[in-house]
Amino acid sequence: MAQHGRFISFEGIDGAGKSTHIEALAQALREAGRTVVRTREPGGTPLAEKIRALALHEAMDALTETLLMFAARRDHLTQVIVPALARGEVVLCDRFTDATFAYQGGGRGFDWESLSLLERLAQTVQAPEADLAHKGMVQPDLTIWFDLPPAVAAERLAGTRVPDRFEAQPAAFFEAVRAGYARRASQQPARFARIDADQPREAVWRAVQGAVQARGWL
Ligand code: TMP
Repeated sequence: MAQHGRFISFEGIDGAGKSTHIEALAQALREAGRTVVRTREPGGTPLAEKIRALALHEAMDALTETLLMFAARRDHLTQVIVPALARGEVVLCDRFTDATFAYQGGGRGFDWESLSLLERLAQTVQAPEADLAHKGMVQPDLTIWFDLPPAVAAERLAGTRVPDRFEAQPAAFFEAVRAGYARRASQQPARFARIDADQPREAVWRAVQGAVQARGWL
């Protein structure tokens, strides 16, 4: 029987600890017989990875930053995500549009309505490329939000790597990003699974598994 494509995104402030759980979920889904595409934003295609390098390391204003995020997303969506969903695969994406609402909207103060307009423009894909469940404005079927206090996330990140333009931001920026995620989750509660990421790794993993199992996908 043909399997349905599933689009799962992972969100949270820098240092929330998404990566190990994305890998574990990919493994669990593969063991359950699914074909999994692991990808990330900004990035996921050769062009979008070039845009990522610019957005993370070059100085620019909030509008330029926002447009780059959506340009990268459009390429990623049409080249990788939509074709994988049409083949019935599971796409695990480390960040997607909620990050733009949280970072550029919440963090940088970019206008929320303009983001919604750009979202609709950049994410609208028509048949025959798209499968029936993912045409029109494509959004994740499930978004797992790793939520934790910025002070805890900062402690986890301290000294692990040279910070990029976002990681180098002060705590107040990440408070605003967190509030942006909360606003987005309250607007689209059915799509969001909020996970308390300030717990031991095992407990976080059980919550991640639980969110996917609750939808009958694992
Ligand atoms: P990461 O892949 O290491 O999490 O880094 C990506 C960074 O880019 C992270 O700090 C969040 C930021 N970002 C945005 O500001 N807007 C976006 O739309 C996306 C996808 C990421």
